[in-house]
Amino acid sequence: MFITFEGPEGCGKSTHSKRLKSYIEGKGLRVLLTFEPGGTQVGKEIRSLLLKPESVLDETTEVYLFAADRSEHVSKIILPALNEDKIVISDRFIDSTLAYQIGGRRLPEDLVRYLNMVSSKGLVPDLTFLLDVSPEIGLKRATQHGKADRFEQEAIDFHTRVRKSYLRIAKDDPARFVVINTDDQTIEEIQNKIRETIDAKLGDQN
Ligand SMILES: Nc1ncnc2c1ncn2[C@@H]1O[C@H](COP(=O)(O)OP(=O)(O)OP(=O)(O)O)[C@@H](O)[C@H]1O
Ligand SMILES: [Mg+2]
Repeated sequence: MFITFEGPEGCGKSTHSKRLKSYIEGKGLRVLLTFEPGGTQVGKEIRSLLLKPESVLDETTEVYLFAADRSEHVSKIILPALNEDKIVISDRFIDSTLAYQIGGRRLPEDLVRYLNMVSSKGLVPDLTFLLDVSPEIGLKRATQHGKADRFEQEAIDFHTRVRKSYLRIAKDDPARFVVINTDDQTIEEIQNKIRETIDAKLGDQN
């Protein structure tokens, strides 16, 4: 099973993907937790180029860097783990590129979809948690422990477009997405909803 966490800055992807890993491992199942960008050796360098505020990148350069990161990630980390029958959880995947590069950067949809397809080798998650958050709350959470990265430094309009884009993507594919608004819910409340969904999914597979 391939599970992804998506959503705007500070929605709780990293928090919940880590907690879900422990929960599933508690059931005696093997889990690989990974993330984008940066889940591979080469990906670490690509991540630094993408996130450091000093990087001045053309939008097209940016989407190609995300695609390069994903190609490495899918072929070297995700597919091998799925082939070993591990449950794979990724903190960000293809939907981040759709929301940020089409919604946020306004790149042509056909270009971004094509790059996604090639870089992911056609791999689509079985289940995606979209943790929705309003930009004001998300950015406050994301930047409370350190300096804002290159995306976090974008104007509020950018983050509003990313959020709307995510919600549209989820609406178009209700079979894959579970959308949870995180504005006014505690981490525990949200994690409980995630666990209920996982219990139902794992139950279905037996
Ligand atoms: N529902 C919530 N209520 C209050 N604080 C939260 C909630 N969810 C996450 N946080 C806090 O917000 C911060 C950001 O959470 P986290 O790093 O998991 O988000 P993220 O989606 O991975 O962010 P980024 O996009 O920056 O990687 C953390 O300090 C986390 O403890
Ligand atoms: Mg994170």
